[in-house]
Amino acid sequence: MARLPILTAPDPRLKAKAKPVERVDDGVRQLMDDMLETMYVAPGIGLAAPQVGVSKRVIVLDLAKEEEPRAPLKLANPEIVWVSDEDAVFEEGCLSVPEHYAEVARPAAVRIRYLDYENEIREIEASGLLATCLQHEIDHLDGVLFIDRLTALKRNIILRKLLKAKKAAVKEAASA
Ligand code: NI
Repeated sequence: MARLPILTAPDPRLKAKAKPVERVDDGVRQLMDDMLETMYVAPGIGLAAPQVGVSKRVIVLDLAKEEEPRAPLKLANPEIVWVSDEDAVFEEGCLSVPEHYAEVARPAAVRIRYLDYENEIREIEASGLLATCLQHEIDHLDGVLFIDRLTALKRNIILRKLLKAKKAAVKEAASA
């Protein structure tokens, strides 16, 4: 397995719509494993392929707490096939939007159809934090970040800070 570099906003690759995989083959499985390793090290609870610069509809998640055994989820071509009428609000963060958090309202429960690690079609129903995380990761596949679900004012404040941090990092690297 290999760790992959994580892109941070603003970056045009995070805004692109990712392509479905034809099937979950060894290459896609390798990508899923690499993404999981990258996510665990970061650390994060979810990661989408566009965040590591790969334009494929692949996401991984693991909501297990530190003291619990790992419970990785690996999904290809995830599709939301049902959402609840009620919304739930969670504070969201994102490895591609480092150090910024905001409350986002999304459907409280969802049903997702996807291809699993063995290329089998599966469905899961989720509520609570898992429902929010799945929707957040699927958003990435459509080039949508959680800050795109905030008001333009809030989004622009965060984007300006991210850009500033990026420029400072480039400057630091150049002078090192
Ligand atoms: Ni994210």
